[in-house]
Amino acid sequence: MSVARQSVHGQWSSRLMFIIAATGAAVGLGNIWKFPYIMGQNGGGAFVLLYLLCILLIGIPVLMAEVMIGRRGRQSPGWSVRTLAFEAHAHKNWQLAGWMGLVGGFLILTFYSVIAGWAFAYVGKSIQGAFVEQDAAAISQLFGSFTTDFSSLLLWTTVVIGLTCAVVAKGVQQGLEKAVRVLMPALYILLIGLAVYAGFTGEFSQALRFMFYPDFSKITMSGVLIALGHAFFTLSLASGVMITYGAYMPSKVSIARTSMWIALADTSVALIAGMVIYPIVFAQGLDAGQGPGLIFVTLPIAFGAMPGGVVVGTLFFIMLVFAAFTSTIAMIESVVAWLIESKGMRRLQACLLSGVVLWLMSLLTIASFAGSSWAQVQFNFLGKDVNNLFEILDHLTSDIMLPLGGLTIAIFAGWIMRQQATAEELNTSPLTYTIWRFSIRWFTPIAILLVFLNLTGILSL
Ligand code: TRP
Repeated sequence: MSVARQSVHGQWSSRLMFIIAATGAAVGLGNIWKFPYIMGQNGGGAFVLLYLLCILLIGIPVLMAEVMIGRRGRQSPGWSVRTLAFEAHAHKNWQLAGWMGLVGGFLILTFYSVIAGWAFAYVGKSIQGAFVEQDAAAISQLFGSFTTDFSSLLLWTTVVIGLTCAVVAKGVQQGLEKAVRVLMPALYILLIGLAVYAGFTGEFSQALRFMFYPDFSKITMSGVLIALGHAFFTLSLASGVMITYGAYMPSKVSIARTSMWIALADTSVALIAGMVIYPIVFAQGLDAGQGPGLIFVTLPIAFGAMPGGVVVGTLFFIMLVFAAFTSTIAMIESVVAWLIESKGMRRLQACLLSGVVLWLMSLLTIASFAGSSWAQVQFNFLGKDVNNLFEILDHLTSDIMLPLGGLTIAIFAGWIMRQQATAEELNTSPLTYTIWRFSIRWFTPIAILLVFLNLTGILSL
């Protein structure tokens, strides 16, 4: 079967645009919200080291595999994998690897847009000086009452989804490219500016010691698993988007080199975010291991207590909005591309339909946070005690669909696709190719399997 050389949706205008857009998809709440707090909870430097190893040994090879599948298949994830399965004379059911990513990415988006809405709302709160000279109790109460208020959550989620659809409706070059071209450089400028500020006014050296001085006695098995799971989440793997974005990549560009750039850019945002957050947290004598509330509670306490905190806090949350937004547009693009290819819809129609379905499904998460009785449940769902619909979605996607999707992608790229096809598409040096192939065939599947079995409680390490 011949393989199309260009996607019907168009192409990124250059290699740099592909890197910026894919980095935009990768950099998000995972880098600025999740990474700093899981590092704080799992022993600082030792965790950072594990995470870097996971990115290098597993994240980059899987990223390369996904971009390669997208570029060779030139369609949305399910159809791309199907085309390549035909090319390899393999069973067409391998396409499930692609469909699972598409569905997983969309399900992630249903709760990701709600949390992105928190970031939008916190820009407003910061400008209004809501944190100024408030004590810890008042700020956690502010967070608590906001995140349980149905109508505020609904309002901000609607804003996120509306803006996301408006950008994606304009298409690859006029919409996605134009948005990331402005937002990504702005994000880096804000991030570096904040890091310089933290370097001058915060406990910078204490933060550096915390992040980069590994205390190996703090490494635990669950820390290893969390690091691996996060490597997948932060690079947006197994959720369709890297295949979708790969489909818009110009043919001649090196997949290995661009994947390394994306991973480097993503990791640097996570590390610099830590260098912004921890000096400020330590300077106020606050707790690093506080958990998910780190940037919505601990950090605002610090903003409220320090001089210039209104400006610094506002810039921080604007940066978070930019990071989250370049991820939401990526997530919905996969679904929009699929609707256009399969249902013959026009882009605008596809955006409206997916926006409405997304909005309706985000109600599941909103109702879970707001405590609506119909969203509360109490049972053991695939190895985890869940309390509401949001926890079901989170567990189903992050702990089950991402690892399983990553596993099938790795097996497909390493064992099912012909060696000649992957070598031709990756078109890289023999050494890089050999390392990639070894990792994707052996290292990645075994590591993912161990994590998966452990997380679901089938195996306990
Ligand atoms: N990588 C994103 C972050 O760090 C989260 C994410 C996971 C994502 N899967 C995705 C973003 C798919 C866009 C598309 O926040």
